Amino acid sequence: MTTWPVHGTISGPIVMIGFGSIGRGTLPLIERHFAFDRSRFVVIDPDDADRALLDERGIRFIQQAVTRENYKELLTPLLTEGGGQGFCVNLSVDTGSLDIMQLCSDLGALYIDTVNEPWVGFYFDQSKGPGDRSNYALREQTLAAKRARPAGTTTAVSCCGANPGMVSWFVKQGLLNIAADLGLQTPEPKSRSEWGALMQQLGVKGIHIAERDTQRAKAPKPPGVFVNTWSVEGFVSEGMQPAELGWGTHERWMPANARSHETGCQAAIYLLQPGANTRVRSWCPTPGAQYGFLVTHNESISIADYYTVRDADGAAVYRPTCHYAYHPANDAVLSLHEMFGQAGRVQDEHRILTEDEIVDGIDELGVLLYGHGKNAYWYGSQLSIEETRAIAPYQNATGLQVTSAVLAGMVWALENPNAGIVEADEMDFRRCLEVQSPYLGPVVGVYTDWTPLQDLPGFFPEDLDMKDPWQFRNILVR
Ligand SMILES: NC(=O)c1ccc[n+]([C@@H]2O[C@H](COP(=O)([O-])OP(=O)(O)OC[C@H]3O[C@@H](n4cnc5c(N)ncnc54)[C@H](O)[C@@H]3O)[C@@H](O)[C@H]2O)c1
Repeated sequence: MTTWPVHGTISGPIVMIGFGSIGRGTLPLIERHFAFDRSRFVVIDPDDADRALLDERGIRFIQQAVTRENYKELLTPLLTEGGGQGFCVNLSVDTGSLDIMQLCSDLGALYIDTVNEPWVGFYFDQSKGPGDRSNYALREQTLAAKRARPAGTTTAVSCCGANPGMVSWFVKQGLLNIAADLGLQTPEPKSRSEWGALMQQLGVKGIHIAERDTQRAKAPKPPGVFVNTWSVEGFVSEGMQPAELGWGTHERWMPANARSHETGCQAAIYLLQPGANTRVRSWCPTPGAQYGFLVTHNESISIADYYTVRDADGAAVYRPTCHYAYHPANDAVLSLHEMFGQAGRVQDEHRILTEDEIVDGIDELGVLLYGHGKNAYWYGSQLSIEETRAIAPYQNATGLQVTSAVLAGMVWALENPNAGIVEADEMDFRRCLEVQSPYLGPVVGVYTDWTPLQDLPGFFPEDLDMKDPWQFRNILVR
């Protein structure tokens, strides 16, 4: 039997909110890698589909939705009873991340989530304009809470899954690899400003979170069913938000429907169109050139913000463009096509492919750092379904990239319990990747001479910038 390294002790109760595809997959990793009291582990979810997994372990299950109205009353006793430091692991949809992390802070409990989730209703609120439904707006609220907290408050890790999350650690490792390959004799950055300076010095113009999910189901997608390899609800919600991207200082053109924000960090813009219906040209090692969807994500904004270099007056003199370029599993692409063909009406039936329903495929998820002296460099994980089945139960390859990042984030929080609210960019990327790597399959770095202008224009005229291949004008498919 394999013996797993125990990375830390959770001294108080563990409260897991949400037991869907990610919650289910995180459970065995918590069991393997932490010392904790099983009788003080509780899972809350309104849906009891998988409660057998909890029952057979003697883990308490509360079948209930966490809501704006009940969260304080429900969570306070659960996170505090019996002493020690509680740990809230939020892996649900439709629960207000910020409110819950603030409650945890008040209670002295550690907190982690994988997405900055609003309370139910936010994503489809007709009274809100696109800017108000953006991740920028959600993140600014979290940043305001971060600033308002005194130094040394209990750690709350915001947005720590695969992406957002792990990809921020890949950006740092990728930068160091490029610097080494360019023969740059520079010490490893120690602060945010030094990381920004390194990225600027390398001449990185932008970053795609470049993903290709090739996992295929045994049964083809039936009409009227949204099929995905992770939360359908989560994907549809973010996919219907406006396309959002960190906006680089090298950009010379903006789409006519692009909008910026009046307040906040100013690192990002949004387009007046849904991200899951916005295509970009990108690149991953397996397919080479491919289309991806520019779905909004917290990391598009946090990475652009983190690496912004400012002058003495605070004006941004350098910032990379940063956005998601996601080619989900083929069945999910078909599902989106069907959904947008029906004016965005979501299919009634949802299916998340389990490890048993998938025949083959990998989730190739990394960062494409482009525009520097070696053109473009993809650094990331190529985790297959076969390897996933062999190393961890209850999840597919997509899930394991997320759950292992949750594990890494939990370890980091235990080791840094008084860091306040943090995003993945601010965490120790080496430590996190050290914990996570056994679960990522091959982690590779690949240079490519591909640019978005490759083989363009084709048979028809296109609005391109032939002087700089790495302009968003060339990346956005119109
Ligand atoms: N950062 C990343 O890389 C990443 C990747 C995948 C998923 N995610 C996020 O992780 C979360 C979980 O994803 P998933 O694939 O497990 O989703 P899922 O749809 O499989 O599961 C979500 C679970 O939340 C439960 N839930 C719904 N409302 C709830 C409430 N009010 N209180 C408590 N539980 C509630 C649902 O019943 C469901 O079991 C989502 O927010 C998703 O966006 C992040």
